[in-house]
Amino acid sequence: MFAHLSPQPKDKILALMAAYKEDPRDTKVDLGVGVYKDASGNTPVMRAVKAAERRLVDEQTSKAYVGLAGDPAFSDAMIDLVLDGAVARERVAAVATPGGTGAIRQGLELIKLAAPDATVWISNPTWPNHPSIIKYLDMPMAEYRYFDEATRGVDFDGMLADLKLVKAGDVVLLHGCCHNPTGANLTADQLQQAISAIKDVGAMPFVDIAYQGFGDGLDADGAATRAIAASFDNVLIAASCSKNFGVYRERTGILMAIARNQDERDLAQQNLSYLNRQNYSFPPDHGARVVTMILTDPVLRADWEAELEDTRLGMLDLRQQLASELRRLSNSDRFDFLATHRGMFSRLGTTPEKVEKLRADHGIYMVGDSRMNIAGLNADTIPVLAKAIIDSGI
Ligand code: LMR
Repeated sequence: MFAHLSPQPKDKILALMAAYKEDPRDTKVDLGVGVYKDASGNTPVMRAVKAAERRLVDEQTSKAYVGLAGDPAFSDAMIDLVLDGAVARERVAAVATPGGTGAIRQGLELIKLAAPDATVWISNPTWPNHPSIIKYLDMPMAEYRYFDEATRGVDFDGMLADLKLVKAGDVVLLHGCCHNPTGANLTADQLQQAISAIKDVGAMPFVDIAYQGFGDGLDADGAATRAIAASFDNVLIAASCSKNFGVYRERTGILMAIARNQDERDLAQQNLSYLNRQNYSFPPDHGARVVTMILTDPVLRADWEAELEDTRLGMLDLRQQLASELRRLSNSDRFDFLATHRGMFSRLGTTPEKVEKLRADHGIYMVGDSRMNIAGLNADTIPVLAKAIIDSGI
């Protein structure tokens, strides 16, 4: 049986994680996988998460199954966090999922059930797991232009031109904020134009929001998702709690399906519960319960929001320090885009060869497409990275 298996392609982000671990150099710098790190390189358990977990241990009286869609209180709290009343609650079906990846996967499976021939349009570039799952599910896929290699900003003309090629009934996958891997995001005006373009062709948006609170703030980062949700009859939203609650390994996420009316919502809800049953029955509960407790308890919520905001401001500061060190060393403003990008990542915009050289010569690990995790930096490693970038002729 197993002899007939073919080797599968390695996920380049996870392969990089393994390579970093094996590197014996104590000067190595990890700018690979999208996990937040503080100045000492630790990924802390957030204060509110620790407090909620303690309370949960004390108060939880049963570990019996919940429901196929997860705890309804988690859905309510997350719908409120992400959508903040942008659409009527009775139009939103939702299921808890194992992380953001689980939500993407269930969303794609729902599309497959409803419209097996729909093409899923992804940004070029995007998070590698998007095309990987779409291919695995054998769904039609196409790309729209997104990144301008010259400016390291959004190639908005290219994006709009490609959105015109989308067919009615297709799906356009968008990043809700903090575009992964580029860090380049649409302005509010560009977002409105993109919404109009998607409406004009009669396609459905599918929003992946995995970094709410890491860009311009918890509320500001939800704005694009809310504008999209309010503009269409049907929208899918995959939201992850991995990063903004720091509960990566607990696998906590949610898929929302916005329907035209309550009947359509009930149908979507029933299909989503069915999909959960087919794939893993009940979604993980621990992280979802912790997140719900934080979002619904004013004291825990205030502490979580404060720590998240500190995290965001810390990353922003690292961006500014790096841009300014590169401005000094290069005597130019060609790296200023780093301070304009938002979220955990920036695409430096160099070749895989130079990325490999940074790894081999300086022990600096970034994804082959030159995506850097800004949170992997600190005051000591910023000058090291900046010098290595200039010395490598980037
Ligand atoms: C990333 O983009 O690095 C993260 O979302 C982690 C992952 O699963 O790829």
